[in-house]
Amino acid sequence: MIYLNNAATTWPKPEVVYAIFDKSFREMDSPMRSASGAVHGDLMTECRKTITSFLGISDPTRLVLAPGCTYALNLAIFGLDWKSGDVAIISGLEHHSVSRPIRKLAIERGIRFEVAPYEPGHPIDLDFVERILRKGRVRLVACTMASNVTGDVFPVADVVELAHQYNTLCLVDAAQAAGLLDVHAEELGADLLAFAGHKGLFGPPGVGGLYVAPGLDLKTLAEGGTGGDSGQHGMAHKVPSTYEVGTHNLPAIAGLAAGVKWIQKTGLKRIRAHERKLAGQFITGISEIPGVTVYGTDDLDQRTGNVSITMDGTSPKELAAWLAREHQVTTRAGYHCAPLSHETIGTLPGDGTVRFSFGYFNTSEEVTRVVRHMVEAPRAVSA
Ligand SMILES: Cc1ncc(COP(=O)(O)O)c(C=O)c1O
Repeated sequence: MIYLNNAATTWPKPEVVYAIFDKSFREMDSPMRSASGAVHGDLMTECRKTITSFLGISDPTRLVLAPGCTYALNLAIFGLDWKSGDVAIISGLEHHSVSRPIRKLAIERGIRFEVAPYEPGHPIDLDFVERILRKGRVRLVACTMASNVTGDVFPVADVVELAHQYNTLCLVDAAQAAGLLDVHAEELGADLLAFAGHKGLFGPPGVGGLYVAPGLDLKTLAEGGTGGDSGQHGMAHKVPSTYEVGTHNLPAIAGLAAGVKWIQKTGLKRIRAHERKLAGQFITGISEIPGVTVYGTDDLDQRTGNVSITMDGTSPKELAAWLAREHQVTTRAGYHCAPLSHETIGTLPGDGTVRFSFGYFNTSEEVTRVVRHMVEAPRAVSA
């Protein structure tokens, strides 16, 4: 099988991740909350430190460990104090995990949202963002750092700076960036930054996190036990435990920390260069195929290893099914949990795209084989 669905979740994981997941699952009976909490507490503290130092967060208590990036983004968005008439600005390439909470706030709480225009090479129209900010009432600007559909890399530092000029909070979705691009939450100045553990950070599923800048207080999404204030009826407000109720997914957290250490050892630059090379090889290889459209920017420095395409006369679903059935190539067809992105790039209305997402464990030989299959595809799939 040639696995080209790394934007959904990276696979395989480095061996150390499997090993540590297995070890911590076998050995840690009830993380944090057990009588032997101190031992587990130490492991949690160590993992938290590994993750925060990698993501440029100097105070480890500002990292909320969450069951995934979706939860982290929901906590960030619903955790703010919205009032009817407030405005949110989002990019045109947001994932459901940003756009759905924002839409829910619009329906239930009377906020408004504006979608910033997109162009390949200019993924977010900063003049538009500024015009809306200038009108006032903008509570949040939310922007992905890299698109899960087109691979476009966003100028998030500029977005944060602009939002701050208007005293507005900025939320960065680093789901597709962490482990590939340099994600330094404090240097970036993001107020809130969410990431997934199971994508570029090579952790197991079911873990992610949210950086909450010092001084920013969020409302909780869930209430429950934190292990620290067991004797009280009410929950003490303490970061990060207030936001981490229930039993921690320690095997996943330990696996995530192992993934981060593996990246540090391998080198972020090397990982990025490899994915850039594969994406470039693929884009060049398919560019001569009649009827193929590649979405997103042409500039390989401004895109990740996510490559979305359409092929005239073939539906994305049929093409992906043919690649899987005839050639054991795993891609993902459709809307990638991001119909807004597909409206933005013009593939909705329509059937979306086929996304080929390359990862560190893919090889140049695999790309050569996939390109060869793609050359056959116009004739074979529609036949
Ligand atoms: C851009 C983006 N944001 C958020 C998410 C949600 O991440 P998770 O699967 O960790 O909830 C994804 C997952 O595909 C994503 O691509």
